Amino acid sequence: MWTRTQRCWHFLQSSTAITSGPSSHCRSISTTHPNFNSTKLNSSLPPFSPPTGFRLTQPPNPEWDLGQGLKPGSPLNDSWAEGMKQGWKTWSTENTPGRDTYKLLTSAVIPRPIAFVSTISEDGVPNLAPMSYFSVLSHDPPLLSVSLLLSPRKPKDTRENIKSTKEFTVNIISEPFVEAANACSVEAPARIDEWLVSGLTPEASTHVKPPRVKESAVGLECELYDFKDVAPPGAEKPTTTIVLGLIKYIHIHKAVLAEDGNTVDPSKLRPVARLGGATFARLGEGFDLSRLTWKSSKEQIEKLHSTQPENIPSR
Ligand SMILES: Cc1cc2nc3c(=O)[nH]c(=O)nc-3n(C[C@H](O)[C@H](O)[C@H](O)COP(=O)(O)O)c2cc1C
Repeated sequence: MWTRTQRCWHFLQSSTAITSGPSSHCRSISTTHPNFNSTKLNSSLPPFSPPTGFRLTQPPNPEWDLGQGLKPGSPLNDSWAEGMKQGWKTWSTENTPGRDTYKLLTSAVIPRPIAFVSTISEDGVPNLAPMSYFSVLSHDPPLLSVSLLLSPRKPKDTRENIKSTKEFTVNIISEPFVEAANACSVEAPARIDEWLVSGLTPEASTHVKPPRVKESAVGLECELYDFKDVAPPGAEKPTTTIVLGLIKYIHIHKAVLAEDGNTVDPSKLRPVARLGGATFARLGEGFDLSRLTWKSSKEQIEKLHSTQPENIPSR
């Protein structure tokens, strides 16, 4: 049996994924393109600015009315319309190498929430890893999904642990400990306990064995609901595992609750999301849009429906 210190020391000796020092800080000046070389970070960027919190503004087109589509007349909308004139670039996923499809999809479908998944192996080794192929699927039943890439080299420990123990917790990552969470993405052998790598604190769960992350303001205790290995069409070997989790308990730090005590205030949660490459995002601004009721908009919609020509082009 390894002691905490031995396990940690061995990890530090064997890890090649964590790099430090000036040689790794060589990404050149600010770019909006995602950095897919995750070992190189840009030290010439401005420092993180904690006071920038989430605030509500007016929506982009406050005067927008039914049927107006991309409303012209604002600089943003007009430049968007200009961009549309450039047309499309199209990839057939069948003919695109997986690595390129990964880059396209993970930079295009953004921002993605990140599940910080805590599991325990059958042998009792705790595991912690971030996963951004993640979403809440429904609230009744309360289900979430996490997808785990199934590398032929080594299935993810998270997958193996969920498969064998049928339990996990999903924790939401906030700005103050994002580096600690990111460090858990190191491709370490199964015997490595990423809690030691992160320095984060395990908090006992109510219903499942895997602990929650104490520093995470949102912790979801999950039981395995469904587990499916999926393969590309025509291929036999699965390349991804889709896990559905049934959320049994929801734990929220009181400090991030909104005034009503029953919802979360985004400006307090300061959640971190994943963009393409090694880029993370945080919340800046938001806006409210009221939901249309059929009752109040029926007349206008019926009128549009009767006057608009068929405008869906076909192949
Ligand atoms: C922000 C972030 C999101 C990630 N999302 C996923 C994901 O959705 N699925 C996946 O298989 N790996 C994902 N990874 C990579 C895993 O975290 C990484 O492979 C990790 O070593 C898996 O740990 P495990 O083997 O202990 O389960 C992500 C990494 C980061 C940094």
